Amino acid sequence: MIETEKLQPAAREIATQRCIESSCGARFEINERLYVCPKCGGLLDVSLEAKARINPQELRETWTSRLTSFDPRDRSGVWRYRELLPFGADAPIVTLAEGNTPLYDAPVSADYCRLGALTLKHQGCNPTGSFKDTGMTAAVTQAVILGARTVVCASTGNTAASLAAYAARARLRCAILVPRGQVSHAKLAQSLDYGAAVLELEGNFDDAMRVIRELAEDESIYLVNSINPFRIEGQKTVAAELLHQREWSVPDHVVMPGGNLGNSSAFGKGFKELKDLGLIDRLPRLSVVQADGAAPFASLFGSDSEMLTPIEHPQTLATAIKIGAPVSWKKALRAVLESGGSVLSVSEQEIADAKAIIGRDGVGCEPASATTVAGIKRLVADGVIETDADVVAVLTGHILKDTDYAINYHQDKLYTHDRAADKTKEERRIAGTFSNPPQRVKATKAAILEGLQRHEGASR
Ligand code: F0G
Repeated sequence: MIETEKLQPAAREIATQRCIESSCGARFEINERLYVCPKCGGLLDVSLEAKARINPQELRETWTSRLTSFDPRDRSGVWRYRELLPFGADAPIVTLAEGNTPLYDAPVSADYCRLGALTLKHQGCNPTGSFKDTGMTAAVTQAVILGARTVVCASTGNTAASLAAYAARARLRCAILVPRGQVSHAKLAQSLDYGAAVLELEGNFDDAMRVIRELAEDESIYLVNSINPFRIEGQKTVAAELLHQREWSVPDHVVMPGGNLGNSSAFGKGFKELKDLGLIDRLPRLSVVQADGAAPFASLFGSDSEMLTPIEHPQTLATAIKIGAPVSWKKALRAVLESGGSVLSVSEQEIADAKAIIGRDGVGCEPASATTVAGIKRLVADGVIETDADVVAVLTGHILKDTDYAINYHQDKLYTHDRAADKTKEERRIAGTFSNPPQRVKATKAAILEGLQRHEGASR
């Protein structure tokens, strides 16, 4: 096995934090506890300058050899790619064997989108059921290095569940701030079981984000929302894992949901670094899909404006992405533009139907993740994605994250929360286009056979 250290002696020593604003570009020590540039307020990137020394073929072989190792660093789908990360060999890593998420081919979803084939990268198969774990392992490791005692985040539920789990592993105190009544039970239940202080805020996610940034001014508190550049570092390794699984064949398109826009920023950084290292020779087009009622990034993309206009009251049943003022929009925009991708939004009906279709592939996901298949269907219809293109949809959360949504859809009881006075309840109903309602049957063989027949007739 080729040792990491021979490839890159001290990733930590060559890493810096750098402001992404071209008019600033200030650099800071990797151990400075920062979230944004202290000079101009811009977002920060971690940069590892000496990567050009790494031989791409040796890297590929090292990463493949680690697939048969039992070292916890190699078992993690994040730390397996540690040459890409700003940590030394002696970093006190906090891991739950995150990453390692499957790639599924999805013929039913492909048909639905009118594509020849479609692949799903299911990040919902992470330890806490969402992609957040790949970033949290890096951010909580950094918290330990910095000697933080308390870690905090604002969340629509998944970041919270993930942080609560990693904080428990690291024996750190943890507080999560969530919008009251707007987080699924499953996500809340996770954070409670993992022992976090769960603070239910009067207000929405954007209010929680604003307050938590004030709280993190306190030295002993470490903020791990995706504004934290170490989160993005962990999350970017999914680009390496995806390409490794595809034996370094670059897809034409990678499509993902957009909320606070950390994931799209991370994918963009990941692909770009793999290209700079010579591991791939082109970038996949990166497209981001939002929900119509929470689509400030899609509005920006479709306009001449250079600044994002926040939405004050975002609305969507895909609560994970119910965000009106995404923090990482500048990084995400950079990634989409550099790769030649696009940004769009889809309706609540499109999300719900796409989610049911993904289910029919035997895969399933939470509502936010289904924006991808809904978005791809639209991009194919508009001729942006060709029918024979090689397309990957990124599913970000597990189907069990929001079972109420699924149950309601399948019983024709799913309603949007759109409070517009001119809309009746019936107009807010999401049609169960592909619904599969449960049936009540008597405990007799005849009744069960009849039920089966009814089901067969309905699904024809
Ligand atoms: N999908 C799921 C399942 C999510 O939980 C999120 C974000 C996204 C997509 C959007 O990703 O924010 O990186 O653009 N959830 C955050 C949270 C905001 O607090 O759990 P993004």
